[in-house]
Amino acid sequence: MTADNIDNLLHESRRFPPSDAFAAQAVATRDLYTQAGTTPAERQEFWGVQARDLLHWHKPFSRTLDWSNPPFATWFDDGELNVAYNCLDRHVIAGHGDRVALNWEGEPGDSRTFTYAELTAEVKRAANLLTALGIRQGDRVAIYLPLVPEAVIAMLAVARLGAVHTVIFGGFSAESIRDRVNDASAKLVITADGGYRKGRVFPLKPAVDAALAPDADGTSTTVRNVLVVKRGGNDVDWVEGRDLWWDEEIAQVDSEHIAKAFPAENPLFILYTSGTTGKPKGILHTSGGYLTQVAFTHKNVFDLKPEEDVYWSTADVGWITGHSYVVYGPLANGATQVIYEGTPDTPHPGRWWEIVQKHKVSILYAAPTAIRTFMKLGRQIPAEFDLSSLRLLGSVGEPINPEAWVWYRDVIGGGTTPVVDTWWQTETGAIMLSALPGVTTLKPGSAQVPIPGIAIDVVDEGFHSTGADQGGLLVVTEPWPSMLRGIWGDPDRFVETYWSKFGPSTYFAGDGARRDKDGDIWLLGRVDDVMNVSGHRLSTAEIESSLVSHPMVAEAAVVGASDETTGQAVVAFVITRASQADAAAADDAGAILRAHVAAQIGAIARPREVFIVTELPKTRSGKIMRRLLRDVAEGREVGDTTTLADTHVMSVISKTMR
Ligand code: PRX
Repeated sequence: MTADNIDNLLHESRRFPPSDAFAAQAVATRDLYTQAGTTPAERQEFWGVQARDLLHWHKPFSRTLDWSNPPFATWFDDGELNVAYNCLDRHVIAGHGDRVALNWEGEPGDSRTFTYAELTAEVKRAANLLTALGIRQGDRVAIYLPLVPEAVIAMLAVARLGAVHTVIFGGFSAESIRDRVNDASAKLVITADGGYRKGRVFPLKPAVDAALAPDADGTSTTVRNVLVVKRGGNDVDWVEGRDLWWDEEIAQVDSEHIAKAFPAENPLFILYTSGTTGKPKGILHTSGGYLTQVAFTHKNVFDLKPEEDVYWSTADVGWITGHSYVVYGPLANGATQVIYEGTPDTPHPGRWWEIVQKHKVSILYAAPTAIRTFMKLGRQIPAEFDLSSLRLLGSVGEPINPEAWVWYRDVIGGGTTPVVDTWWQTETGAIMLSALPGVTTLKPGSAQVPIPGIAIDVVDEGFHSTGADQGGLLVVTEPWPSMLRGIWGDPDRFVETYWSKFGPSTYFAGDGARRDKDGDIWLLGRVDDVMNVSGHRLSTAEIESSLVSHPMVAEAAVVGASDETTGQAVVAFVITRASQADAAAADDAGAILRAHVAAQIGAIARPREVFIVTELPKTRSGKIMRRLLRDVAEGREVGDTTTLADTHVMSVISKTMR
């Protein structure tokens, strides 16, 4: 975030108290804060109450938190439950089998609907199929699918067996799949022939085939089978004995399946996310605590009335928002929801609003980057649709600038809906900071307050709480139920990354923040080398290592430069190898390297710009000064260069770019 933005935020003075009508019907009341208490013991007790109220326990727990060996926590550890049973069977047993669980919209205009009874039957079948393929408690299953109902069914089937899913976003490359499959030692991959995106079928299976091909030295992955959902209708290569069609196999299995209970700390999923080093981290989440907090937040932050509301989170299941607020939170709460396969502008720029109108969506949860894109296109597009069913809007993934917030409320929310800006992370598993609609007076641009039961502070480097309007670092000072339990296979990295800066009991989030004089928190962006592009996390180091793996590149530095639409954009500065540089003219080199990164990591990581330079700014100890490169990329006056080993470098770089 630039100094200008921070300045604007400091002067943002618009306030939106809840209307009396909204407050009168709201699920969450001020009482929740009272119930959550003010001490760690009271907060733990509060979560115990929520866990019992919101979930079905096959075996009740007697302990809430065990924090005797920080940062390794357990929650409700002597309790047993089945996550899928909580999301499915119990709603059917309670008489809600006819309620719609999923209203799915395919990009080309096809649609499918599943009631809770139907979704339960599908998941039972899928669980039987996975069992037949040898999947047992604790086994890892990789899922690489478009946003089709089978993605949700597959995740729940894995959870039902006490196995562990790792969902890989459909935009990732073969190499990214291979890294994740290997790191997790997955036994099974569930994919599709292809999916729809921007009006075309994009193939998925070839990436899986390439990812699973034996290495040059003949080493194979641990994957035994690949289950293939038919979606794109595109031709695919077939490996006999390994590959199986989902529809053919599922037709042969029984639709009865009894959900077994698993311990509360049974691993539920691993989700890979970018960190400050080149290798993505496998964030591990477990069952009981995770499900408690996602259900609690989904109900209270989104004011959910499961009998009346139609909820739509636009996230893909490949990201944490799709896990917590498409699959687990809404289904645990028995919500009716919409899921949409495609892009917001296919086949026309009003597609989202058409879906809201068609399904009478009442709660919409989206990312600021989408809101800003719609703002640019103009209010006449949403104005063509009836959006009067919307009564609550949510935002996630990056700071939402006040102008986008106000536009969202005015143009999409008819000037009346609350907008809740929710701050959280893959690691936190569930929402940590958010207003409660009906209770909190909203401030555009601020994620506001910790949800009841969560302890958050903004501190300086010396671990003192910062004063009003002082910038600092966001920390979580007490364990919380949906906290990550580790980095898969790397406990040292877990401790080092999150729990070492301020000691083993304080979680360091990696975000800068400021608390205003009312105590509301404003997020100021990452303080590490993690970028946020369209609400997706990317690592500078990962993209740099991809760039230097190209024979043309001698050295590379990547920065996240602010971008009006995507929040940040990837900008690379590259020094080419002399001999290779002659071969490719600078213009070509940029295009080649952009394509190289997209092929290696995935299209989301493709740099917006690649600048070929002859030098990079470095300190005397050899550290690249990204701050200066960011100045250049954002077209600003270059800041203080006195710590550079060679103070002329920046003028050389700036000249190259004019
Ligand atoms: O920098 C924060 C930003 O997104 C990061 C987490 O990214 P990820 O794990 O991919 O999860 C995204 C969806 C939960 C955070 O460290 N971030 C997320 N939500 C917000 C946000 N920044 C400001 N305001 C938010 N509401």
